[in-house]
Amino acid sequence: MTTLMKVSIKTPLVFIITHAQVRARDRIYRAQHLAKVIYHCRLHFFGMERLGKFIAFEGLDGSGKSTHIKALCMKLRQNGLDVIQTSEPSQGRIGKFIREYVERREIRLPTEIEALLFAADRLDHVKRIIEPALKMGKIVISDRYTHSSLAYQGAEGLNIEWIKELNKFAIKPDLTILLDVTSETALSRMKGRRKTIFEVDKIQQKVRNIYLQIARRRELVKIDANLPFQEVHANVCLLVNNLLEKTSSEECI
Ligand SMILES: Nc1ncnc2c1ncn2[C@@H]1O[C@H](COP(=O)(O)OP(=O)(O)OP(=O)(O)O)[C@@H](O)[C@H]1O
Ligand SMILES: [Mg+2]
Repeated sequence: MTTLMKVSIKTPLVFIITHAQVRARDRIYRAQHLAKVIYHCRLHFFGMERLGKFIAFEGLDGSGKSTHIKALCMKLRQNGLDVIQTSEPSQGRIGKFIREYVERREIRLPTEIEALLFAADRLDHVKRIIEPALKMGKIVISDRYTHSSLAYQGAEGLNIEWIKELNKFAIKPDLTILLDVTSETALSRMKGRRKTIFEVDKIQQKVRNIYLQIARRRELVKIDANLPFQEVHANVCLLVNNLLEKTSSEECI
């Protein structure tokens, strides 16, 4: 075969192969794009429009929730993520009533009414703050959520199944972190601060026990928060990174 013939056969061959490669790559891009569209449509049409991530923190008063949420939010924002920091009782009308109520040292309302008030505030919190932020793709971090009702009103003797029933509307967080401390650590960290009606020593131990029972069922992830701040912070970041990495790889399909 002459050199001229070799060149004249090779050129169209190279062209055909390159063209086939480009088409294959295009097909992969199109398939990936279609998969993403289907994923988002599925979220939209089946009412699962949760584009963001929802993380809740639980633990005794004085366990370090505010401290660790602040540190986590700062870190996530430094990494360019859009984070909403929120808490319960919420800043809404019912939440405001509850916060005034827990600070007052008057005759307590029946525990059932307290549970109903917390559930009503949670519904308000979900509708006003949590769901809209998740739909916009933000990371929502809440200081307390449904498990606080189970632990605190459960510790006051209410039937836990009934409390769950009241809170059925509450969307599930993608991750709930329990900052677990002994009641002694919690009380020593709260020294000098005025206690609310729930921060009575005998209740704290019961609250912790209920939290630990729930953690054994893997509904929340326990971190030993008796440890020094830096160690607890590192463990919190590890859990949150795992959640965010898992999600981004799922979304790429
Ligand atoms: N791992 C830690 N080691 C030592 N001190 C800590 C640790 N975590 C938090 N603290 C300190 O303990 C105190 C109570 O923490 P913080 O106010 O964050 O608790 P909290 O769970 O938000 O309490 P509450 O539910 O009452 O708001 C603060 O003075 C905080 O600096
Ligand atoms: Mg706090």
